[in-house]
Amino acid sequence: MKLLLLGFGNFGTQFFDVLLLSSRYWFPSFHVMVAGRRLEYIQQRTQLAICAAHQLGLSPEVSYAMLDLWNEEQIATLLWSFQPDVIFTTATMLPSSAITRLPSPLAEKLKTAGAGPWLPWSLVLQYKLMRAVQQTGLHPLVLIGASPDNAPAVLAKGGLTPTTGVGNAGNLVPALRRAAAAQLHLSAEQVEIYFVGHNHVVHRLRTLGTPGDAPYHLSVRVDAQDVTPRLNQAALFQQIPSMVREYTQILSASSAVAVLENLWKKQGHLFHAPGANGLPGAYPFRATANGVEVVLPPGLSLQEAIRLNVEGQKRDGIERIEQDGTIWFSADRMQPLTEVLGYQCRRLPLTELEGRAQELYQRFCQVAEKDGKSAEGAKE
Ligand SMILES: NC(=O)c1ccc[n+]([C@@H]2O[C@H](COP(=O)([O-])OP(=O)(O)OC[C@H]3O[C@@H](n4cnc5c(N)ncnc54)[C@H](OP(=O)(O)O)[C@@H]3O)[C@@H](O)[C@H]2O)c1
Repeated sequence: MKLLLLGFGNFGTQFFDVLLLSSRYWFPSFHVMVAGRRLEYIQQRTQLAICAAHQLGLSPEVSYAMLDLWNEEQIATLLWSFQPDVIFTTATMLPSSAITRLPSPLAEKLKTAGAGPWLPWSLVLQYKLMRAVQQTGLHPLVLIGASPDNAPAVLAKGGLTPTTGVGNAGNLVPALRRAAAAQLHLSAEQVEIYFVGHNHVVHRLRTLGTPGDAPYHLSVRVDAQDVTPRLNQAALFQQIPSMVREYTQILSASSAVAVLENLWKKQGHLFHAPGANGLPGAYPFRATANGVEVVLPPGLSLQEAIRLNVEGQKRDGIERIEQDGTIWFSADRMQPLTEVLGYQCRRLPLTELEGRAQELYQRFCQVAEKDGKSAEGAKE
């Protein structure tokens, strides 16, 4: 397997670590190329994981390349020369968590916006990547780490569907499984979870331990029998933050490795992922010969599952996505960005994505440099 890893910040490096250190079990033979703008840093940081892998008796094949994801020609050239089977990207101009580096009143205000309005920062780099993939005529599997509940749904409308997202709901399922198993006095391995929901509800469950009025579907099955009515869901959800609230990105990293393994080995195991096949939000999936298919529990239609996720997407700040990929952001979620950064964007056609992403970045940097940490500091 030849894997191209793009985005080597917090998430990308932890994915790389988990991949290398668990490769004995998943991928006995693979070549990872890490590509990005800071080649010296990439070389240094990859050496750390390679040395850790050596401790475990592993000798992973790793290479590096200079790549700026703003440059579609450069991406296409790299794709041609490396011919990856799989691309995993966590690249973003800034993660939305960068707002926590602003002074507290500004950060608190911006937190009320949710994740949706920051979508251009990751989407623009994914858009360029997918256009370059299309240009080469190659057909690698493409896994999306940044904004996986929202971005693939936009890319799909633009005819640039990635294979799947990773993380988010996928990060929640191990905790749901363990909490359900504890209530049922079973082992986690005996319990099967079917969860449908957007990152909006996932975030609530992870941090607050309650979905509030956010839409979701949870079915718990044991030996193919629905045992959901036997569970106290409120008590189950309350346990979630104690397990995953303070997570580092190791959960997302292991979710990405698990999705990669499922896709590569075409295992029939159930896994949870956001954004697969360009759908909004997250669903249970199974890998097929050609990609992935949604696997829903009896009684839940795909139409209803999509409706739940579209509702979640609205609460995340994305009112709707038009057939050509034009995004409509909710006025109330955009308001905090207007107040703090002077940024206003209700309608975003893909043709304006680059300019609006740059504008949002520049406005954020101006405020960060004036009142908080610089953009570089905000990345730490
Ligand atoms: N799915 C999940 O469960 C999950 C979990 C955690 C995080 N996330 C999301 O994943 C994304 C990444 O988070 P993070 O904490 O890893 O962010 P980060 O530390 O800021 O990493 C972003 C990476 O993108 C790279 N990048 C930016 N512009 C680039 C360009 N033009 N060309 C090439 N590379 C470029 C950066 O490289 P430079 O060093 O060159 O700037 C950096 O390596 C965020 O959107 C975050 O919200 C998702």
